Amino acid sequence: MSMPALPLVIDTDTGSDDAVALLLAAASGMGDIRAVTTVAGNVPVETGTRNALISLQTAGRSDIPVYVGCQRPMTRALSSAQHVHGQDGMGDIGLPDPLATPQEVHAVEVLLSLPRRHPGELTLVTLAPLTNIAAALLRDPLLLSRFRHVYCMAGAADLAGNVSPTAEFNVWADPEAARVVTQAATPDKVTWIGWDVSRRDAVMTPADQRRLKQIGTPMATFAHRINRTVADWARDVTGLAGYDLPDPVAMAVALMPGLVIEREQAYVDIATDGLTRGQMVIDRRVTAPPPNLTLVRRVDEAGFKELLFDTVAASG
Ligand code: RIB
Ligand code: CA
Repeated sequence: MSMPALPLVIDTDTGSDDAVALLLAAASGMGDIRAVTTVAGNVPVETGTRNALISLQTAGRSDIPVYVGCQRPMTRALSSAQHVHGQDGMGDIGLPDPLATPQEVHAVEVLLSLPRRHPGELTLVTLAPLTNIAAALLRDPLLLSRFRHVYCMAGAADLAGNVSPTAEFNVWADPEAARVVTQAATPDKVTWIGWDVSRRDAVMTPADQRRLKQIGTPMATFAHRINRTVADWARDVTGLAGYDLPDPVAMAVALMPGLVIEREQAYVDIATDGLTRGQMVIDRRVTAPPPNLTLVRRVDEAGFKELLFDTVAASG
């Protein structure tokens, strides 16, 4: 007997990996997306919104409402990741404009109102800098508790960074927002899936990339083509055996928590300045404050990739 689809709210800065995560949520049959909220990060928020609409359309779900959020981090100018994902965030392959347009209501208003209307029912999955979530938290300190659970693609618990020696992009791009979230979080409600998980258990090897290309369905071809730019960056900068999929593996954990092999609870603070900007400061001492986050450390790679390939193989 299949499980009922998981009611979801997804916060995204839609770049090429966010797009694959949106396919998983929209087309796997395991997600029931109630709202997509966008935020500045990989690309300016207008571009990320366009990309979210394109991704949902590719999944055959142009009906899902998309709400535009914050234009820049809380206190800093936006530092995008267009050098990683391409100027348009989707590999610069000339994707046509989406048919749908975003809603008029601001994303932060939706992040505040939906969990109040559906207390304990919605799972929030964040795939971006935490600016929208922090803005909502400053208006409703109990926000996180109103969700069933909050999964964040955020941080690097092993301190091996992607955007800097020790920081992961989503936390680095808006460390003040990440800190607002960690200070409001409890480990029973908030789980972080960091870049340490992605670079170890969600790397698309050359064989995986060939398999994705050979599937040949619209979603598989889309997922393969939009990740060409990030594949080059991964090879030239991170030295990984392929490109990793941080947002899709975080989404997979939200949809299938049984994929988690190893997790821990810890007290986490966030460094905000200088060389350690965006670094997770994890206190595992006996005298540490009570844990505020659950940190996923390892995921079932084969199970994740099976979900990915099965989902995109469906003819959208
Ligand atoms: O560090 C990886 C994260 O930064 C992912 O969410 C990716 O889309 C970028 O936003
Ligand atoms: Ca992202």
